[in-house]
Amino acid sequence: MAGLALNSSFAWRFVRLRSSLVRSTGPSLSFHSTASRMMGATVEQFEQAKSKLSALKNDPGNEVKLKIYALFKQASTGPCNTPKPGMLDFVNKVKWDAWKSLGSISQDEARQQYCDLVSSLVAAEGGGSGQVAATPAGAGAAYQTLLVTTEDDITSITLNRPAKKNAITTEMYNEIIAALEQAGKDDSVIAVITGAGDFYCSGNDLTNFTKIPEGGVEAMARSGGELLRKYVRAFIDFPKPLVAMVNGPAVGVSVTLLGLFDLVYATERATFHTPFSQLGQSAEGCSSYTFPKLMGVPKASEMLLFNKKLTAAQACEVGLVTEVFPDSSFQTHIWRELKEWAKIPAASLALSKQLIRSVDKERLYAVNDAEVERLMERWQSDECFNAVMSFFQARAKL
Ligand code: COA
Repeated sequence: MAGLALNSSFAWRFVRLRSSLVRSTGPSLSFHSTASRMMGATVEQFEQAKSKLSALKNDPGNEVKLKIYALFKQASTGPCNTPKPGMLDFVNKVKWDAWKSLGSISQDEARQQYCDLVSSLVAAEGGGSGQVAATPAGAGAAYQTLLVTTEDDITSITLNRPAKKNAITTEMYNEIIAALEQAGKDDSVIAVITGAGDFYCSGNDLTNFTKIPEGGVEAMARSGGELLRKYVRAFIDFPKPLVAMVNGPAVGVSVTLLGLFDLVYATERATFHTPFSQLGQSAEGCSSYTFPKLMGVPKASEMLLFNKKLTAAQACEVGLVTEVFPDSSFQTHIWRELKEWAKIPAASLALSKQLIRSVDKERLYAVNDAEVERLMERWQSDECFNAVMSFFQARAKL
């Protein structure tokens, strides 16, 4: 997508122009009822989303703009049946590819995805989205690294550092702990964790290792270990059904923790990678227990010892992922399902989840403690120091 940067203002203006043309020439779309809610968003919601899009202050980036363009075309015209632009017509070819990639998803579905995407962009600018933005428990300020909303009895926690592939900083660990605590107590029935942008999460932010406190590396390892212990416990203790929507590649702790979710849905684009030994570290997130339990020792060892990266299909085969969806229908399909499930009696769902968890809870606490102890040692090792330095040296050369 790098080449598109040259033409980004063109593509962006095009999307806005197209939106305003449709507005000014009246509803050229074949929507019949303005009042009834169809399978996707209503016509009014679609129109509102177009207005909100025009009012955005920040450029959302080429990938997002292409997605908006494609969804707009699909919603207003239907599946892409126009001839493919020539090789040299670069901008139109990229746009055609984006539209074509939506395949045969219905205009209703496209309209819903368009509205969801615009809502998330508006909310990211602090403009609200018609949804309720939550704040950290006990704090007055909004989250800095997350987007937290509650709608239709579902609390959704979105890791929101897309430029850093949603790598988890110390601040983000603390905010996720607070968001889970809040979601555990609020009226929602189900909680969902997902990532903003093209990645689910790239794991621990490696810059966490470069912020050495006064007590030196040992103090850094100790405070990092305590934070990790608390973080993983927040997942072990979460009292309601917890769903991971793995919207793209996942690395490190974002993968190991998946064994503590109740459902894990992935787009076909997702990959699952735990490069601990390569980084001089060791497994966490209770994966030294949950992975062998889910997939058997040999498959778990391929991932946890030898850093094997799994595709979404492979992860589903070994039981780490519940179900894989095409990227084009991933969001719509899952949200539709979750909204139905959120109508199930809440206490019954929570109590059933807690029964399942209670069988292993004490063991999970013990595994978490053992993993954290081992990691605190590892973080002080030369192997870990050298691996983290190589990551940043490699980036400095780019
Ligand atoms: N910690 C800190 N920064 C990270 C990061 C991480 N875990 N993952 C990504 N980033 C940063 C990159 O440094 C880069 O920052 P920059 O734009 O300021 O240079 C930005 O996010 C985008 O990443 P980039 O590497 O350009 O994207 P990519 O698509 O080529 O690769 C990854 C994405 C995730 C495969 C690659 O960044 C990576 O390997 N990250 C490290 C993952 C890791 O080892 N996590 C810990 C596991 S224990």
